[in-house]
Amino acid sequence: MAGAENLGKAPYYITTPIYYVNDKPHIGHVYTTLACDVLARFMRLDRREVFFLTGTDEHGQKVERSALAQGMEPQAFTDVMSGNFHDLSAAWQFSNDDFIRTTEARHVKAAQALWRKLQENGEIYLSSYAGWYAVRDEAFYAEDELAQGEDGRKYAPSGAPVDWVEEPSYFFRLSAWQDRLLDFYRTNPDFVGPEGRRNEVVSFVKSGLRDLSISRTTFKWGIPVPGDPDHVMYVWLDALTNYITAVGYPDENAESYRKFWPADLHMVGKDILRFHAVYWPAFLMAAGVEPPKRVFAHGWWTSEGQKISKSVGNVIDPYELIDTYGLDQVRYFLLREVPFGNDGDFSHRAMVSRMNNDLANDFGNLAQRVLSMVHKNCDGRIPEPGRLMASDESMLAAATAVLPKLRSELAVQAFHRALEAIWTVVGQANRYVDEMAPWALRKTDKARMETVLFVLAEVVRQLAILTQPFMPNAPAKLLDQMGQPQEARDVAALDQPLEPGRAIERPQGVFPRYVEEAKQDAS
Ligand code: MSP
Repeated sequence: MAGAENLGKAPYYITTPIYYVNDKPHIGHVYTTLACDVLARFMRLDRREVFFLTGTDEHGQKVERSALAQGMEPQAFTDVMSGNFHDLSAAWQFSNDDFIRTTEARHVKAAQALWRKLQENGEIYLSSYAGWYAVRDEAFYAEDELAQGEDGRKYAPSGAPVDWVEEPSYFFRLSAWQDRLLDFYRTNPDFVGPEGRRNEVVSFVKSGLRDLSISRTTFKWGIPVPGDPDHVMYVWLDALTNYITAVGYPDENAESYRKFWPADLHMVGKDILRFHAVYWPAFLMAAGVEPPKRVFAHGWWTSEGQKISKSVGNVIDPYELIDTYGLDQVRYFLLREVPFGNDGDFSHRAMVSRMNNDLANDFGNLAQRVLSMVHKNCDGRIPEPGRLMASDESMLAAATAVLPKLRSELAVQAFHRALEAIWTVVGQANRYVDEMAPWALRKTDKARMETVLFVLAEVVRQLAILTQPFMPNAPAKLLDQMGQPQEARDVAALDQPLEPGRAIERPQGVFPRYVEEAKQDAS
C-alpha cells in the first residue's frame, strides 16, 4: 500500500501546488491546501516530524498580464496578491511550516542552479518554438490536441484559448526520458494516485513525448536563464522547483534537504497532474535528483451543479463559506462528502445536512449527552469503572481500532474512508448509549452506570483526539472540557485511558446546528 513503508516515525514532507497570484483565492485552492493540512496534522498527531509547504507561483505571462491590467508593476502586484493567500492560510488555520514565493531570492537561486545542472548534463539545447500556447494554462499544445471553437479560435482541452507563438527557445530533451519514465512508473506503482490517474499518465507517456520548450523570450516577468538573460525560464520549470527550494536546494547536504527530500506527497488537482507526474520527475532525474515518492490528483468542485466560473458568478468565497457554516464544519464537509480523487458538487443542502446530521446530531449529541451525564451524575468527575462486560470491551476495542484504519486510509489519501471509519464508531457509541440506558441505571445500579459512563467518556476522548486533524477547534474544546492537558492529545495519549476522579467542566455543545433563516422567521 502506498506510503505504508512510512508508518514508522519517518519524517513526512507534503506540498500543495503553489498558487497563481493572478486572482483571489477560491474554493479550489482551499480544497488542495485543506487536504494537505489534514495530512500534516495527522502525521504530527502520529508523532512524525512534518514539513508542510505551500506558497505562490508568481512569474509568467498570466501573472504579468494581470498585473498590467491592474496598472501595477508585477512585483508590487504579486506582493499584494500573495498576501491574500498568506492571509487565507491563517483564516483556515492551515498549519503550513513554510510559505514560499517564487520571487524570493532563495528560489531564484535554486531554479537557476537546477537549470545549470540540466545544462551540464546535456539535457538542454537552444532552438526555436513555433506552436500553440495557452496563457491561462501556461502550457504548450500540439495542433492535434486542440479543438476549433464556434468563434473560429482554437482551444486547449482545458477550454483555454491558445495563441500561435514563434520565438527562440531552449528545449529540454523530454523525448529521451520516455522509457526511463515508464520504468520509473513500473518500479514505483504508487507514484500516482488515484489508480485511474496513473493509467492516464502512463498512456500519455507511452503515446510519445516531444522535447519541451523551457524558456520564453517574448516577455520579461520570469527568472532569467543563466548565461542568456534574453530568455526567462518557462514558468512551470520555475514553479515545480519550489518543492526543492524550500528544503535547501541546491545545497543537497542541507539538513532539511537530507531529512525531507524526496517529498512524501505532492498534492495537486487533476488539471496539473501531467506537470507533476511527467515533466517534474523527468527534470529531476535528468538533474540527478531523486523524484518525489507520490503525486495525488484530486477532483474538481462544482457549485450547485455548475462549473465554477467568474462569468457564471458562482465563485465560492472561502471566507464567506466559513462565516456561514463554521470552519470545522466546512473542513469536515469538503473531505467527507466526496470520495477524494472524484469531482464533487458543493450545495448548501448537502453542506447543511452533513453539518446537522454527522456533526451536530451524531458526534455532537454523543459528546454532549455523555459529558452531561458524567457531570451531573458523577459529581463532575470521571467515574471509576467496575468490571467490564463484553459489550464494554467491544465498544472500547472499536475505538482502539480506528487509529490503524486512519493510518492506512490516509496513506492513500482516502479522507472520506478515514472519516467513515471514525463515524462508524460514533454510530456504535450512540447505539451503546441507547442500549445501556445509563439514565435508567442511575436508579437501579449506580456502579454499572459509572462503568458505562466511563467507557463512553473514554470513547469520546479517543474520538476527539482522532478528529483533531480534520477539525482544529471543536475536538480541542471537547478535550478541554474533559480536562485533558495539551501534551495528552496525540497518539501516545490513546493508550493512556482517562483517569478516574479527573474533574470535567460543565459541557457545552461544540457542534452547532445550522438553522435555515426561513424557519427562524417562522418561529
Ligand atoms: N501555479 C500552478 C501550480 C504550480 S505547482 C508547481 C497552478 N495554480 S492554480 O492556482 O491555478 O491552481 C492551483 C490548484 O487549484 C490546482 O491544483 C487546481 O486543480 C486547483 N483548483 C482550481 N479550481 C478548482 C476547483 N474548482 N475545484 C478543485 N480544485 C481546483 O495551477
